[in-house]
Amino acid sequence: MSHSDSQFDALADAYESSIEQMPFRKHIEMYSFLKVVGETKALNVLDLGCGSGLYTRAIARQGARRVMGLDVSDGMIGYASAREQREPMGIRYLRRDATRDPATISADLGETFDLVTAVYVLPYASSQDGLTAICSTAYHALSGPEGRFVAAVLNPHFSREADWYREYGMELTGAVEPSEGAPVHLHAWFGDHILDLDAFYWSRAAHERAFQDAGFRRIKWHSPVLADSDDPATKDRRLWNNYLQCPHALIVEATR
Ligand SMILES: C[S@@+](CC[C@H](N)C(=O)[O-])C[C@H]1O[C@@H](n2cnc3c(N)ncnc32)[C@H](O)[C@@H]1O
Repeated sequence: MSHSDSQFDALADAYESSIEQMPFRKHIEMYSFLKVVGETKALNVLDLGCGSGLYTRAIARQGARRVMGLDVSDGMIGYASAREQREPMGIRYLRRDATRDPATISADLGETFDLVTAVYVLPYASSQDGLTAICSTAYHALSGPEGRFVAAVLNPHFSREADWYREYGMELTGAVEPSEGAPVHLHAWFGDHILDLDAFYWSRAAHERAFQDAGFRRIKWHSPVLADSDDPATKDRRLWNNYLQCPHALIVEATR
């Protein structure tokens, strides 16, 4: 029987397919996120809310010294661990709630990290305290002043136009003038999959407060960009125009 009761438990296969079947994930999101992450060789990396391990494996492939993935969902960690057994990359996966006991994370894990990543995890924090707790887990997991936390979050100014993201295979629904923690619904379709996920709206100020309360001093926001690639899918500028003009996600980089 599963220990977690997460909306993500049955979604590992969907997340794995989404990187190929939702072209914006590969050509914009992953490209941009890994660009902000930069060089990972020789780094010890922790991927919070690693899900099925898409980014965890991408970072390991880039030659990080050691990589660990944590996720609260049994279904996600089960998939990621089984895949690691099948195709070993030296990644450790653990089930853990990133909002629990942030101050003891390094002692629990028995190590500290040079880089912590969290792709689409902060939008699932249901309170400002939860948002701060995830940032605090990242802060306490990092080793020194050079340690960085890089997170992909929901763009607080995502387009409220109903069909803005439709050609990318998704719809986002939320209030035009939301209060902090207001519901945001993501409906996505790709291949044989339909996803319906409930997330929470956090303003730029709420994110920055969470990062600062956790201890981070320098915070930089990055807008995603289109991959500089020979892939023909990246050549159709018209297709990507809406997304780039008003992306549904932004990347935040925080350092101590
Ligand atoms: C939208 S999925 C993203 C998965 C992966 N990062 C990716 O981009 O493919 C969000 C993941 O965050 C995990 N998550 C949400 N809240 C968490 C928490 N408090 N602690 C650990 N994992 C969490 C979920 O279980 C889920 O796997």
